[in-house]
Amino acid sequence: MAPRILVVDDEAAMRELLRIVLEAEGYRVAEAGTLAEAQAALARGGFDLVVCDIFLPDGNGLELVRSTRVGGLDVPFLVITAHTTPAQAITALREGAVDYLSKPFDMEVFKGVVAKHLAVHAPEPAAFFDFIGQAPSLWPILQRLPQIARSDATVLITGESGTGKELLARAIHAASPRAAGLFVPVNCGALPEPLLESELFGHARGAFTGAIRDKRGLFLEAHGGTLFLDEVAELPLAMQVKLLRALQERKIRPVGDNREIEVDVRIIAATNRNLEQLLRVGKFREDLFYRLNVIHLHVPPLRERREDIPELARHFVSRACGRLQVPIKQIHRDVMAVLESYHWPGNVRELENIMERAVALEPSAVITLSSLPLSLLGEAQPLAASPPVRLPESGFDVEAHIHELRREYMRQALLRTGGVQKSAARLLRMSYRAFRYHVKKYKLVEE
Ligand SMILES: Nc1ncnc2c1ncn2[C@@H]1O[C@H](COP(=O)(O)OP(=O)(O)OP(=O)(O)O)[C@@H](O)[C@H]1O
Ligand SMILES: [Mg+2]
Repeated sequence: MAPRILVVDDEAAMRELLRIVLEAEGYRVAEAGTLAEAQAALARGGFDLVVCDIFLPDGNGLELVRSTRVGGLDVPFLVITAHTTPAQAITALREGAVDYLSKPFDMEVFKGVVAKHLAVHAPEPAAFFDFIGQAPSLWPILQRLPQIARSDATVLITGESGTGKELLARAIHAASPRAAGLFVPVNCGALPEPLLESELFGHARGAFTGAIRDKRGLFLEAHGGTLFLDEVAELPLAMQVKLLRALQERKIRPVGDNREIEVDVRIIAATNRNLEQLLRVGKFREDLFYRLNVIHLHVPPLRERREDIPELARHFVSRACGRLQVPIKQIHRDVMAVLESYHWPGNVRELENIMERAVALEPSAVITLSSLPLSLLGEAQPLAASPPVRLPESGFDVEAHIHELRREYMRQALLRTGGVQKSAARLLRMSYRAFRYHVKKYKLVEE
């Protein structure tokens, strides 16, 4: 996904100009004309850079820089202003702006400065554990990871099933000062309530039938380390109360025991459910939600970071080959093309399973289409699973989008028909002439 830039300026003409320049560079742009609008936009999040004027009708842009930084949001500000003194520039930088340009400025210089700060913002690839990811849609997570790991704050990780929430939690733990302690995962949905309580908090001998000896519980197990509360949305309400108390008081009480034990754990929670929605219907306690949601990380689905598919696929293949002690197999480019265009409802886990299966099924040194499951090849409606058509806030180039769609359908049709253009055209209800014309235009076959 292209980087997103917020342009804050009271002058509509200036915003328009900057938008045109930035969009031509391939960035996505949102605008704000006042401090209040800018604050609202920033609260919604998702920006990679803010271009901000100082004098705004309802306040000072530098306030925005300051409050954003104090609020813990780590987005670079490029301050632009007309009424400029060197002192002002210094103040802006001191407040945390990454750069300063006085108006009027050369658009080439402006573009260079923007590109520079977006690039600095890109995280070092593969810097974290074995979490593979370089796609821009992951940058907002990866760039904050070192800082998050260093802090001891509670983290809530959301994202569809199989997106890598647990791996990310492990990466945070491994990069944290608690790395020497244990990472203790607990699946909050797997156990009925009474068992879960003793699993988490432990129990005293004789607390209930079958409790033949004291049990320590996972909280104590994780003492000095990190407790990973997986599927946290599945916690029964009564357990939510008990968990909240443990988090607030940093003490636990084993079942059937009246002692309280102090524990020192860092909490990372994860869920693939929409917690806000569960709050509204009373299935999840608001107070617990705010306790957990101190730092929120949302892991995007794999279909929003297709750039990473080849590297992930190769990673899973070489790992599977390693386990089977066979030489590392290559992935044929037709296979890669299918992998890159599939919509991955099961996300990274599904890719992992499919590559492992392919390695097991493929006797030769190259993984070819025949080692993929048919469901992947015959995907009828790759778009049905993508979000419904929605016009982005800042509008977009609909012609380019339609071309992109047509090209993608044609590419898949050619794949399905083994390159036979007549059959591919028929699959898409296109005339052979029109098909051939577009094949040339999109350079779909090598000449
Ligand atoms: N970015 C990544 N790089 C390498 N491996 C990954 C990545 N993301 C996920 N995986 C692998 O994919 C599998 C699924 O990841 P994980 O268990 O962390 O997902 P999850 O979000 O916790 O899923 P669920 O919601 O189903 O519990 C794991 O085997 C994990 O190692
Ligand atoms: Mg998980």
